[in-house]
Amino acid sequence: MQIKTRATRPIEGQKPGTSGLRKTTEVFSRPDFLQNYVQAIFNTIEPAGRTYIVGGDGRYFNDIAIAKILRMAAANGVKKIIVGRGGLLSTPAASHLIRKYGTDGGFILSASHNPGGPKGDFGLKYNTETGGPAAEAITDAIHAETQTLTEYHIAQEDAPEITEEGTFTLGNMTIEVVDPVADYADLMETLIDFDAIRDLISRGFTLRFDAMHAVTGPYAVEILERRLGAKHGSVVNRRPSPDFGGGHPDPNPVWAKDLVDHMMVPDGPDFGAASDGDGDRNMIMGQGIYVTPSDSLAVIAANAHLAPGYADGIAGIARSMPTSAAADRVAEALGIAAHQTPTGWKFFGTLLDAGQVTICGEESAGTGSSHVREKDGLWAVLLWLNIIAARGQSVQQIMEDHWGRFGRTYYSRHDYEAVDSDIAGTIMDDLRAALETLPGKSFAGLTVTEARDFDYTDPVDGSTATSQGIILGFEGGARAVLRLSGTGTQGATIRLYLENHEKPTGNLRQDPQKALERVARAADQIADLEKRTGRSAPDVVT
Ligand code: G1P
Ligand code: ZN
Repeated sequence: MQIKTRATRPIEGQKPGTSGLRKTTEVFSRPDFLQNYVQAIFNTIEPAGRTYIVGGDGRYFNDIAIAKILRMAAANGVKKIIVGRGGLLSTPAASHLIRKYGTDGGFILSASHNPGGPKGDFGLKYNTETGGPAAEAITDAIHAETQTLTEYHIAQEDAPEITEEGTFTLGNMTIEVVDPVADYADLMETLIDFDAIRDLISRGFTLRFDAMHAVTGPYAVEILERRLGAKHGSVVNRRPSPDFGGGHPDPNPVWAKDLVDHMMVPDGPDFGAASDGDGDRNMIMGQGIYVTPSDSLAVIAANAHLAPGYADGIAGIARSMPTSAAADRVAEALGIAAHQTPTGWKFFGTLLDAGQVTICGEESAGTGSSHVREKDGLWAVLLWLNIIAARGQSVQQIMEDHWGRFGRTYYSRHDYEAVDSDIAGTIMDDLRAALETLPGKSFAGLTVTEARDFDYTDPVDGSTATSQGIILGFEGGARAVLRLSGTGTQGATIRLYLENHEKPTGNLRQDPQKALERVARAADQIADLEKRTGRSAPDVVT
């Protein structure tokens, strides 16, 4: 194998965020941008003689990037790469393959729920041998490398086609092309009661799964239709496309409106779900009802023991700080620990590795368990189906029972998108500066009881993360959280998270936005959001 060594220089903007490096496709395809970042990863992880998983969500540039990564891996002495056929692997499936085959880590190509295509976004994330995203110490080291490296190494010859399963070579490196679905589907069979779901479906239970033209299509067809017997066509938008059919593969009521429309009619399917670009997020619906991700986490935690993989109970629950406290109420009832972590799945890793928690979730439609080290969209869907089959109840009945037992935590997230970065920064700085002055003051008729920045110390490894979001507590238990997104690619996104708990004896049937109106107004008055962002309302309400 001929190796080319090419000169490169530091390239701006290669600081990885909460989910690896995410940029517009245009930036990612600039000369040497990808190569610079991949070489920086290789310089950090010492890849000679090692084995890695590679795969992505199939978005535009996936194939080109994988071919370059294969050539660079060979030139950097990697022993073996296991890659999904056609370059496809959902993020949870990639995490599973790293763990199942005991590889040294993996490269996941995705910008998650962000649109794809030449005008969309692209991303690359390095996961370690645990199957989870690399810790900050590693991503910081990678970033430092991007700023100092002077050359990268790439095999002269082309990478082999990866459209068929089989074993290939590139120089001294072995490339094994595997079925992206089979191992993952087998894992699901060990955790979930497939017989019970098959039986439910054979008795006429109907479902609609919207793959949003993204990576979960082939997974959902194999599992829901072939293995569980759902009617052909239950999985819609099932063919992964490089630009996600021109859509925005983010499973929430705004971007998955088509699913919502199908579920909100009286003769709609019994169960509806969707997943995002790379298959780690989920949206859960029943006929006539949308389940918020925070509620979904709580229901999954309260009922996980009904699935074979969790029959002995769960060790603990972790949620990101902005996620609602609904799951904490379940943890309390089960007598297990409830952890609050900063936003981003990587913070769950140490707790999962230490066996301190079994179920984790984020308000941003991510739920998962100790079976992999990423959130897992289809897993959440299957666990819900398992719970429905075991309880013999509809989604609506399950939610009403849950709220009747734990109360209902009304919840919503308001996003102000593509805000000028300086303005967004000043809003947060000013808020931080005013924190001490807020307790005792009243806004929109609500008195502030607590105002603080969220600082976190990992209970397992003692690492710390500071300034992770501003928490505003109000009398009566309502809460608002403000933080800046770490995954946006245009300007800054300000996220305002709102919640208000209603006791089991209270009004459990309010419209969530109505139930949260006062706390929303209070937060807006405190941060002066609408005026300073120049918006009369948030851009996205979920
Ligand atoms: C968003 C979500 C966060 C999630 C991340 C990656 O990050 O809010 O929960 O972990 O995407 O999927 P943010 O843009 O808020 O930084
Ligand atoms: Zn995702």
